[in-house]
Amino acid sequence: MDSKQIRSTFLEFFQSKQHRIVPSAPMVNKDDPTLMFTNAGMNQFKDYFLGNKKADFTRVADTQKCLRVSGKHNDLEEVGIDTYHHTMFEMLGNWSFGDYFKEEAIQWAWELLTEHFKLPKDRLYVTVFEGDTDDNLSPDEEAFKLWSRILPEDRIIYASKKDNFWEMGDTGPCGPCSEIHVDLRSEKEVAETPGRELVNNDHPQVVEIWNLVFIQFNRMANGSLQPLPDKHVDTGMGFERLAMAIQGKRSNYDTDVFQPLIQQVAKDAGIAYGKAEETDIAMRVMVDHIRAIAFAIADGQLPSNTGAGYVIRRILRRAVRYAFTFLNLKEPYLYRLVAVLNEQMGEFFPELKAQEAFISKVIQEEEAAFLRTLETGLRRLNELISSGSKAISGPVAFELYDTFGFPLDLTGLIARENGLTVDEKGFSAEMQKQKERSKKAAVTEAGDWVAVKGGSEKVDFVGYTQLEAKARIVKYREVKEKNKTNYQLVLDKTPFYAESGGQVGDTGYLTDGKEKIRIIDTKKENDLIVHFAERLPQQPEAEFTAVVDADKRRYTQNNHTATHLLHAALRKVLGEHVQQKGSLVNEQLLRFDFSHFAKVTDEELKKVEEMVNERIRQNIQLLEECDVALEEAKKKGAMALFGEKYGDTVRVISFDPAYSVELCGGTHVTATGQIGLFKIVSEGSVSAGVRRIEAVTARAAEEMVREQQENIEQLKALLKNPKDLTAAVQGLLDERNKLAKELEKVQQQQAGELRKELAAKVQETDGIQLLIERVSLPSADALKTISFELKNQFDRLLMVLAADIDHKPQISVVVAEALIQEKGLHAGNLVRELAKEIKGGGGGQPFFATAGGKDINGLDKVIEKAKLIAKQ
Ligand code: SER
Repeated sequence: MDSKQIRSTFLEFFQSKQHRIVPSAPMVNKDDPTLMFTNAGMNQFKDYFLGNKKADFTRVADTQKCLRVSGKHNDLEEVGIDTYHHTMFEMLGNWSFGDYFKEEAIQWAWELLTEHFKLPKDRLYVTVFEGDTDDNLSPDEEAFKLWSRILPEDRIIYASKKDNFWEMGDTGPCGPCSEIHVDLRSEKEVAETPGRELVNNDHPQVVEIWNLVFIQFNRMANGSLQPLPDKHVDTGMGFERLAMAIQGKRSNYDTDVFQPLIQQVAKDAGIAYGKAEETDIAMRVMVDHIRAIAFAIADGQLPSNTGAGYVIRRILRRAVRYAFTFLNLKEPYLYRLVAVLNEQMGEFFPELKAQEAFISKVIQEEEAAFLRTLETGLRRLNELISSGSKAISGPVAFELYDTFGFPLDLTGLIARENGLTVDEKGFSAEMQKQKERSKKAAVTEAGDWVAVKGGSEKVDFVGYTQLEAKARIVKYREVKEKNKTNYQLVLDKTPFYAESGGQVGDTGYLTDGKEKIRIIDTKKENDLIVHFAERLPQQPEAEFTAVVDADKRRYTQNNHTATHLLHAALRKVLGEHVQQKGSLVNEQLLRFDFSHFAKVTDEELKKVEEMVNERIRQNIQLLEECDVALEEAKKKGAMALFGEKYGDTVRVISFDPAYSVELCGGTHVTATGQIGLFKIVSEGSVSAGVRRIEAVTARAAEEMVREQQENIEQLKALLKNPKDLTAAVQGLLDERNKLAKELEKVQQQQAGELRKELAAKVQETDGIQLLIERVSLPSADALKTISFELKNQFDRLLMVLAADIDHKPQISVVVAEALIQEKGLHAGNLVRELAKEIKGGGGGQPFFATAGGKDINGLDKVIEKAKLIAKQ
């Protein structure tokens, strides 16, 4: 079977067992503060397990894009080095939400593997949970018994909590599990060592392929286990490992999932895969990482400097670094693999296919930027090497790592090649310091939820139609942040909109008639609406009136509707390739990021602004349709975003069905006329292939126009009320340019004279043409020019110029080639020594170097010191 058949066989098998097949959730998580990326198939079902939400279907199966590069499940360092771990991988899974349990899960797993995928029965091993005294859990004898009906007991192995108690993260759903391992070694190897001994022993051909988790507990923040109301099944099978087993390969990378990518890299690098360990690892790293990067971008996560974006950036850099160092690929290359990947996976994952050009553009620019950084870092290293250093200190190695993206092993490699050592301990110490710094910066500790008597579990959002509602607190928890404590509240009914789809969360207050509790923000946590309160009410069980800040909400929804009008206008003016890549909507402004490869011209911006304002004047009524089937909404032409998780039914917001139709959960004006006025404030680039427009509406737009008007009035007044303001400013600029040119001419003449004067002062003794002088010059450039002119005029020159440049001290040192050769003089070293006198620093090459400083009074001392050095 090829990998496509394997995927469909899995899904069809569970379909035949009455499972509903659902799409993969996005790989990048938005509404779960405990998880940056989807790290397991069960993530999207967390609320079903915890009982926060009821599932529409109790049996579900899918293939889920997972990424294990941060947090509890992090395989990054293994990837490429071994042959069976990945950053991104597909996890095939089947779930029971309080429906079937261990018996069916075990029975079906065996049936699928042995009858449909035809894996040899005698090469399969299973593990079951041996129990744990800390958690007061007994061995999973039930699972053992069920398995022993299927396979001999010597192939069922009890294993510890580490391997056989699965947890999503530090908190959340968990339970004992049973893993299926496969032995893919040759007959000869099997005869020598029984597979049983190699299970859970990091053997590349005796690997886990499927994990059956029996979810029964919730791990609390205090470390205890709380039994869940129902029992559930969560299984996850590594798709790439399964392909290896079915296709009879010894490495995931030898399957058809990776081979097309590997062969492309091998061809382009001109090195065969399988030739040497070092180049093989590099190829594996690249073809693994390109998948993670491409799918992350497809799901809306661009590489950046913080959070999830930074994780993606680091993965990309790891791949570039391997390509650069081991395959000699010194130009952007990875982006070219996106096309190959799309061939393989685009059919099943439309988000990849639809954005292929965008994804490769983003990767190409990111690669180019990193390659430049790599080169700057390399230059920095070379300077160190040529200055005669014998070691790279911890702080320098860390700077290379932190600022220039140089991993320590690369620094080590280059250092070794040049006979230098690296202070690895010092590096680790710096790293530790940084970790502690960032830990201090972000300590938030969330306690466990405390249930409040009398509340129900179901949260009802009434904020589309009401800004006030009677509500009770269902549960609350304490959140410690640096030196303050906040409270998070969940209400049974709420008018508060939780931040999502770019729209900020509502603020307002709760009152029970006796006290008023301010709500400073509202956010989602999966499907919960969490209110951030400054303090806890004295009587949490009382009935409250929840009141939303109406002004803030009104201005915010002006901006939200305007964002929809803008999105539609951009697609009409720039083209259908425009995709939303990010948005922020608050009471002050709207910010909209979208894919587009060129600067939006002034002409285009004008058209967009006019189009939006025209729609505002048309006073188009809001058309809100709830519970529309996703497919039906898409047929209506509703714009869905890649990387968003949509349910089976969605909310559709239209302002003129022929103009703007979007899937959206946000709040909007009832008719566009309420927006008043729309003004674009700025347009610019955010990152490769992504533009950003900021705009304001209503009162803020009026203010902006008024301010501009006032500015113009002030300018006019300054220029004595000219008839034509533009012409007047242009006249000023022309005059200024003319004067600048004349000034430059005069300065050049002066410099010419100065050079002649200086040349006359050069004194020759003992084969050295010596010149040490104090000068006054208009710019650093002038100093450089004059230094080079004199350097060219004399062939045994040793010159120090101590310059006063607009009251700032600057030194230039020139050493003729001959003196470098004969006397070992070095301009860079000299200038560093002299710069101490002006409290400054600098450097350069052996023949020419400059330094700036802070103390103009030190210039005379520079002269003295230079004379002393010259004498020596
Ligand atoms: N959650 C389990 C895992 O990730 C099984 O799906 O291994």
